[in-house]
Amino acid sequence: MSVQGGGDVVILAFETSCDETSCAVVVGDGSLRVASNIVASQVELHQRFGGVVPEIASRSHVEAIIPVLDRAFGDAGIEPHQVDAVAVTFGPGLVGSLLVGLSAAKAAASALGVPLIGINHIEAHIYANFLEHPDLAPPLVCLTVSGGHTDLVYFRNHGDYDVIGRTRDDAAGEAFDKVARILGLGYPGGPAIDRLAASGDPAAVTLPRAYLEEGSYDFSFSGIKTAVLNYVNGLRQKGLEIPVRDLAASFQAAVIEVLAEKAIRAATATGVGRLALSGGVAANRGLRRLLEDRCRDEGLELYYPSPSLCTDNAAMVGCAGYYHYIRGSSGEGPVNAVPGVSLSQPGS
Ligand code: KG4
Ligand code: ZN
Repeated sequence: MSVQGGGDVVILAFETSCDETSCAVVVGDGSLRVASNIVASQVELHQRFGGVVPEIASRSHVEAIIPVLDRAFGDAGIEPHQVDAVAVTFGPGLVGSLLVGLSAAKAAASALGVPLIGINHIEAHIYANFLEHPDLAPPLVCLTVSGGHTDLVYFRNHGDYDVIGRTRDDAAGEAFDKVARILGLGYPGGPAIDRLAASGDPAAVTLPRAYLEEGSYDFSFSGIKTAVLNYVNGLRQKGLEIPVRDLAASFQAAVIEVLAEKAIRAATATGVGRLALSGGVAANRGLRRLLEDRCRDEGLELYYPSPSLCTDNAAMVGCAGYYHYIRGSSGEGPVNAVPGVSLSQPGS
């Protein structure tokens, strides 16, 4: 079944860049359908360490990848010989983790005699939006916010985009995770802070907002993390109780206000009229609500994926792979792990 033959295009996708082992089958004939999207999370394995341990992550990917692949085919009701192309994340991510998905994807593509398409993980996050919103079309601005990256992307067309802003230090999700750790909320911290913030006072604690130079679309979140740490240490030294809910709400407000402000400014300045969110932090209810209000005021359309498609999954990799495939892009040749690749570098 191939696009040239006019039938459905079947993409088998792999995602193992961090601590989720995921395989998906997506099927397209103009619009896209997620036939299966299996995600085996390692979160419990890493929880007692307070963050992802790379060696444990790669070993766990090795154990999970074949069962996850089997389930992806089973749930999709697709036979391997129906696959037209294999898509796989090649970076950014943890090298040992990336290599597991890449090895499985190379083996699958070689055994099936189909092209292997290397996908940049940040590009995949953006494409989660196209999975759920068939009406969404470029140009758009996308704010990708997750544990490892914070990028503001001007997406002119499929395969034609620029990163116009990125974090200069911590990623937004990293800041959520570090602050959650300071507050003793466990890993991953984003969902815990999101939950607590709902019943806290966002104006209770004054925290810095790093807007950087005028006109800049870059971000910085290390200062706010330090401000929370200093505030908590100050209270502890005086033997006072930590107002966890208010601090969670104040921290979240400081982060999402800067994210929203810059994303809105980018969508307005580029004249695209639509803003999309992606990455794990895009699941944050405060960020969604704030951007819904701001976009309504500014006359911008706002798109974001369901929470399960915001965090790492292979369906988004399959979606990006599908758009590469129908453009005739059969990948980057010999696809290798590039742990520190950014979106605008060649090979993305
Ligand atoms: O996209 P993702 O699954 O993995 C990376 O590519 O990094 O994002 C994981 C990040 C973690 O930092 C997690 O704390 C954050 O997304 N996250 C959230 C929420 N859900 C996940 N942050 C804020 N609010 C949430 N509801
Ligand atoms: Zn991710």
